[in-house]
Amino acid sequence: MSSSDKYEKIVDLAARRGFFWPSYEIYGGLAGFYDLGPLGALLKENIRKLWLDYFVLKHQDMVVLIETPVIAPEVVFRASGHLESFTDPIVTCSKCGKIYRADHLLEDVLGVKFEGSGPEELTSIIRGRGVKCPSCGGELEDVRTFNLLFQTNVGPYKHDVAYLRPEAAQGMFTSFKRVFTSMRYSLPLGIAQVGRVARNEISPRQGMVRLREFTIMEVEFFFDPEEPGEPDFSRFPGKLRILTAEARSRGLDEVIEVKPEEAVAEGIIMNKWLAYWMSVAQAFARELGLSDDEVLFEEKLPEERAHYSRQTFDQLVSISRWGWVEISGHAYRTDYDLSRHMRFSGEDMTVYKELKKPVETVTRKVVINQELLKELFGADAPKITQALKNLRVDEAEKIIKEGGTIIEGFKIPSEALRIEEVKEIARGRRFVPHVVEPSFGAERLLLVVLDKAYTEESGRVVLKLPPKLAPYKLAVFPLIPKEESLKTIAKKIYNDAIKAGLTAIYDENGSIGRRYARVDEIGVPYAITIDYQTIEDNTATIRFRDTKEQIRIKTDEIIKWILNKLS
Ligand code: GLY
Repeated sequence: MSSSDKYEKIVDLAARRGFFWPSYEIYGGLAGFYDLGPLGALLKENIRKLWLDYFVLKHQDMVVLIETPVIAPEVVFRASGHLESFTDPIVTCSKCGKIYRADHLLEDVLGVKFEGSGPEELTSIIRGRGVKCPSCGGELEDVRTFNLLFQTNVGPYKHDVAYLRPEAAQGMFTSFKRVFTSMRYSLPLGIAQVGRVARNEISPRQGMVRLREFTIMEVEFFFDPEEPGEPDFSRFPGKLRILTAEARSRGLDEVIEVKPEEAVAEGIIMNKWLAYWMSVAQAFARELGLSDDEVLFEEKLPEERAHYSRQTFDQLVSISRWGWVEISGHAYRTDYDLSRHMRFSGEDMTVYKELKKPVETVTRKVVINQELLKELFGADAPKITQALKNLRVDEAEKIIKEGGTIIEGFKIPSEALRIEEVKEIARGRRFVPHVVEPSFGAERLLLVVLDKAYTEESGRVVLKLPPKLAPYKLAVFPLIPKEESLKTIAKKIYNDAIKAGLTAIYDENGSIGRRYARVDEIGVPYAITIDYQTIEDNTATIRFRDTKEQIRIKTDEIIKWILNKLS
C-alpha cells in the first residue's frame, strides 16, 4: 500500500465510520473546514484529556487552565504584532485574476523551498525565472502580503473592528496580571488554554493537515529571566532528536540526539524551560503512539520564525502522503508580548520580586550647577541647562577633565558640572516575565494518531489506537443474539461499563466475526463475548484487538479489569 493510498483509505474510513469529513459537504464543502463526526469528537476529547494531563495536571503546582474569548478587539492584535506580521505572500495573475500563495507557487514550479522570503525577493524570482500563472499562462503581478486574520465587527458599528484569534496565547497575555495575582504572585507560572482559533489561509490544499479553523492547546509559561528556577528533567527522561538551524542553513540534515538538559548546556536550546516543555511534548507524543525515533524537533531558521520568537523548534512527525508535519511548536517568546501589551494598554505588566537580601547600589549622576550658569549666562542659562541635561556620566567627566567645553557658542567652565555618587538600597526588582510556549493543534494530532494506528490484516482494517485514546473502550456481544439469557448478561455488562464512565458499544447484529471486524475498524481495544459457558461459570471472553488473543474472566470483574488496563 503506497503512502498516498493509505491516506486515501484513512480519509475514506474517517467519513464512513464518523471520524471526520469536509464541512458543508451538501454545498460542495469549504476548503480548510472539517467536521468531526461522533468518533472523531470522542477521539479529539481523549487527545485533549491527555494533553490536559501532561501539560496542566501533572504540572498543577505551576500551570493553570483558563478560557478566554475567540474574538478580540483590533488593539490586541496591533499590540501582539499580528496585524503587521501575521501575513503570507500572495501573487495575482493579471490575466485570469487567480491568486496564489507566492512561496508555494514557486516551490511547486521550481522545487525549492521559499518559506520566509519577502515579497520583493519573491517578485524578483518570479521575474528572473519567468514564472507565469500555472492556470492560464498569464503574467503575474508583484507579490503582496496578505493578512491571515479573519476580520469581524463587534455590535452594529462598522468601526468596531475585531478579529478571530489566530492563537489562544493573546488571551493568556492580556489576562496575565489577573491570573498572576489570583495565583498568589508566584513564578514560574504556566497559563494553559484549549480553544478554537481561525486563520484565513490563502489556499489550504492539505485536507485535515491545514485547517482554517481548529482547536489549539497552548501553554504560555512565564518565568523570571534572571532566576528562572530549575526544571526537573528527570520527570520526562529520554533524548530529543534535533535538527538545528545551523545544520539546516549549511544544507545538512544531520539529526543530533541529545538530552534536553545537555542541549541547554551546549547552547543548542536557548532556554531551559523551552527544553523542558520539549521533553514533555516528547513524552506526550509517546502516549499518542509515536516512538521517540519517529519524532524530530526542527529548529526554525530566523526567516521562518514568527515575529515574536527568539528561538523556535517544530515537533515534526512523518505521516502518509504529506510527509513531515508539525504537531507542535515550541517558541521562546521572551518578554515580547507582555512588553507590547504594556505599551499599548498602558497597564503595568511587570512583576515585583523581593531580593533575598537588600542590596546597596551606588549610582553616579551628572549634577549641573544652575546658579553658576545663571550668573554667567543670565537669560541663556535655561537653554544651556537643556543641552547639558542629556550628558552621560562619561561625557561629563571628559568635559570636567578637559577644563570645560563650548555649547551653542557659550564657553562652559568645568565648574558648571560635577559628578555625584548616590547610594540607594534596593529591596526588590521589577521585571517583565519571559515566556516559552508549547502549542499543539488538536485536529492535526487526531490525523497523526489515525495514521499511526491504521493497519490492515487480511484485507480488513484494524485501527490500533492506544486504548487511552480509543473513542470506545469496549464492545459487548451476546454470541447468539436470539438467546435472551445471553443478551441480558451482555446488556448488564454494557450498562455497568457506562455507569463506570466507560464508552461502550453493544452489538447483536450479524456474525461474531463481522461484529469483531466492525469494532476493530474503529479501534475498540477490548471485545467481550457472552456465550453459553457464561451461564455455567459466570465467565466471558475478552478478545484483544491487536493480538486477537482471548482470555476468560469473571463477568463481575470485567469492568474493573478494563479500568485497570486503561489507567
Ligand atoms: N501560538 C502559536 C502559534 O500561533 O502558532
